[in-house]
Amino acid sequence: MKARATIHRDYSVAQIDNRLYSAFIEHMGRAIYTGIYEPDHPTANAHGFRNDVLDLVRELNIPAIRYPGGNFVSAYKWEDGIGPQDERPVRLDLAWRSKETNQVGINEFARWADDAGIEMMLAVNLGTRGIEEARNFVEYCNHPSGTHWSDLRRSHGVEKPYDVKMWCLGNEMDGPWQIGHMEAKEYGRLADETSKAVKAFGGGIETVVCGSSNDQMPTYPDWERQVLEECYENVDYISLHKYFGNSSRNSLNYFAKIEETGRYIQSIAGVIDYVKAKKRAQNDIYICFDEWNVWYHNREQDSKNWKSWDWPEAPELLEEDYNLEDAIFVGGLLNEFIRRSDRVKIACIAQLVNVIAPIRTKAGGPAWATTIYYPYQFASLYGRGTALNVAVDGPRYDAEVAQDVNYLDVAAVLADDGQSITVFAINRSPDEAMTLDVALHGFGELRLVDHQVMGGNSADARVANTCEEPERIVPRKGDKLSVEAGALKGELPAFSYSVIRLAVK
Ligand code: AHR
Repeated sequence: MKARATIHRDYSVAQIDNRLYSAFIEHMGRAIYTGIYEPDHPTANAHGFRNDVLDLVRELNIPAIRYPGGNFVSAYKWEDGIGPQDERPVRLDLAWRSKETNQVGINEFARWADDAGIEMMLAVNLGTRGIEEARNFVEYCNHPSGTHWSDLRRSHGVEKPYDVKMWCLGNEMDGPWQIGHMEAKEYGRLADETSKAVKAFGGGIETVVCGSSNDQMPTYPDWERQVLEECYENVDYISLHKYFGNSSRNSLNYFAKIEETGRYIQSIAGVIDYVKAKKRAQNDIYICFDEWNVWYHNREQDSKNWKSWDWPEAPELLEEDYNLEDAIFVGGLLNEFIRRSDRVKIACIAQLVNVIAPIRTKAGGPAWATTIYYPYQFASLYGRGTALNVAVDGPRYDAEVAQDVNYLDVAAVLADDGQSITVFAINRSPDEAMTLDVALHGFGELRLVDHQVMGGNSADARVANTCEEPERIVPRKGDKLSVEAGALKGELPAFSYSVIRLAVK
């Protein structure tokens, strides 16, 4: 199999917003408790957070993290999580039929995020609550002092305000499963008024309004149109969510879901443009893809379990053992976000620890990186700068969810200093290596700095990293690529994900 591609330094898509590599963590399952927070763990720091997990998190260089939910947020009282820990109420979390001890609340989480070097992106409850509680939460977090809520924060030992810039207006409000689910118009009105109140605090606050929970919702994409017609001028982003399955165990069809996601992004971009034109609005709204990931390995069993269990505390939930095929898929999805970085400014891998996550832990035991950790890490480290267009001429295939799909999935990023280019490339073919010839124009003389590759054999498609064998699928150095006469040439192994770093000589 052979593919040619062309990249030109001046032929760019957009400046990538670093927040494209953000994450999401929710009070659900073991994401918080025994995930990031486990005071009895041998590696726990003075504040009860696991240092082994913090180390893995730091290596990802995550710009921002969405918290505290998810479905959880739609019945959450943020005030339950402040003040002395031993006085906090234990509540039933109706979203996941679990017990919430509130031992981690906003101040503990903020300390963890600060330690990890990550900016917080907070969601307010618009399910059971509204403008008043949202405004109080913003005042508690962002106002310096001299008011009820800001002085309460100071009395809890946090002198300096957090100055949180990004606020999500509820979660998946289109979903009938959501506590406090609403009709589009109704939600659009509430989001508009809440956004105005939240932004009244000043300080450059940006808000994210809920779009569809996925592109299969019966209300999609009219939900977005109706919501934006109510609030377009007062919000900055519209959120999209999508989780991916592979129940037919058909790799090529699975990988083609990346093209399906491209259509999802394009459709919502169209709705944004339509509402902007209709309203004669001056402002632009971008996409915040604030929940995305692979979720299918235990999905059926999990939903049977949690819907009937007896309110456990930090139960095992959505703990997926990701395999090589999932890592290739995640790499491709990140490529799609880079290719659409003109419209997608923020994206959050959902979630970060234990729950559909790149990092897993055992309570009292080790932490390890799942297979998807690596493509996410590479994109976060090297996918910053300007997204470049890549024109591909190569073999294609038809799949159930998309036709005429390239076997070669590729994205390219020029670093801000203009001195290096990273090419993220996937050969989707299960059995054939791909001979690559990528013409590189306008960069001057380039040299190959590094080639890291995952995969190479579709027989390993279902091999996962587990607690017992945490390093079965890890990146290794590739040796079949070189730069010759202004072109990147060589071979991509079958069924593989590659990160190719080039620098100006
Ligand atoms: O990430 C798991 C759940 O998926 C979130 O709580 C919800 O927003 C989505 O449906």
